[in-house]
Amino acid sequence: MKRIKVTVSSNKDNSYEILIGQGLLGRIAGDLAEASIAHSHALVTDSKVAELYGAKLLSSLEDALSEVRMIAFPAGEQSKTREIKSFIENGMLESGFGRDSSVIALGGGVVGDIAGFVAATYMRGVPCVQVPTSLVACVDSSVGGKTAVDTPHGKNLIGAFYQPWRVYVDTDTLKTLGPKQVAEGLAEIIKYGVIESEDFFQYLEANIEKIYGFDDATLLEVIETSCRIKAEVVEKDEKEQNLRKILNFGHTVGHAIEQLSDYTISHGEAISAGMIIEGKIALGETGWSEGEQEKLTRLLERAGLPTEPPRGVDVGKIIDVMKIDKKARKGKIEMSLPERIGRMKEQGGNYGIKVAEHAITSAFKS
Ligand SMILES: NC(=O)c1ccc[n+]([C@@H]2O[C@H](COP(=O)([O-])OP(=O)(O)OC[C@H]3O[C@@H](n4cnc5c(N)ncnc54)[C@H](O)[C@@H]3O)[C@@H](O)[C@H]2O)c1
Ligand SMILES: [Zn+2]
Repeated sequence: MKRIKVTVSSNKDNSYEILIGQGLLGRIAGDLAEASIAHSHALVTDSKVAELYGAKLLSSLEDALSEVRMIAFPAGEQSKTREIKSFIENGMLESGFGRDSSVIALGGGVVGDIAGFVAATYMRGVPCVQVPTSLVACVDSSVGGKTAVDTPHGKNLIGAFYQPWRVYVDTDTLKTLGPKQVAEGLAEIIKYGVIESEDFFQYLEANIEKIYGFDDATLLEVIETSCRIKAEVVEKDEKEQNLRKILNFGHTVGHAIEQLSDYTISHGEAISAGMIIEGKIALGETGWSEGEQEKLTRLLERAGLPTEPPRGVDVGKIIDVMKIDKKARKGKIEMSLPERIGRMKEQGGNYGIKVAEHAITSAFKS
């Protein structure tokens, strides 16, 4: 098992551990009983993960703890709403859960984000245990403390920064993921190599197929390194003042592609194409080379991810969406651009680089 300590800079002690290994679902109940973080525990999950792992975790929690209730909602992004947040909160309130409660989030990023947000506001905040079961959740959403729900006006618009009490990544749970779900996680994993570590990028070049084979040692290595990179960035800049922006590589263009497709293109596919376009923009601006762009393209292809924007995409509309993105400043488009594999460009002390509209248009056309 691997252990990563995350220490976020806040006025109260918000540090926590990420445990990564096989069979960790089996130790959660004992740990919670020993730490006695709460009297009542809400096991929040989605319909699909409830069937796969919910019953097993619930029964071990019931054996070790006094009050436990499982609350499951329909699987999928369409459930990441204020209504489902209320549904979870009502379930807890009806069970008489007070301030001495905890929320255990078992599932992918949707469960983690919504259950984390419930924990942030229930009785003004109760401990949250993250138990990510999708690759995206293991390497991305369960680390860093961003919690949120979607609204008809956009994704993740209502939420809070709220760090978990602990994260348990049981790599055995990943073996029921389909190839598309693995590719979703790989898009973020490859991003970590580009933004922070050439060694990790090379490790992925040598081993990427083993991830699809769910090779235990490879999964452990890849998840540990990804979490370590994300944790280090979040520790230095929890609220995304500057350095945390590097985690957005591929996401400025990617989010616009995702949104304009009405979310028919998945996040991982969109940011894969987004990394390619942002890489092309970097070619003329940061010293990023054709050779590195080629390496990135090859690796994304091997991961089963798209390396071109969808056919017929309207660049003018992409630019309009990027101008109102959360990352834009005073209507000017900002992105994080790579300088070389393992390092992002810093300009005047800032990792958000202002990009001219014509540079975006020509990157799409090339
Ligand atoms: N908070 C953050 O920093 C952050 C970062 C990245 C993504 N996110 C959010 O995460 C969400 C995407 O995460 P996701 O891709 O995990 O989506 P998800 O939670 O919808 O999971 C995808 C599907 O996989 C299923 N699933 C989960 N674990 C499984 C397993 N072990 N075996 C089989 N099926 C399993 C789920 O039931 C669901 O149907 C988005 O809402 C996104 O905004 C948040
Ligand atoms: Zn992402």
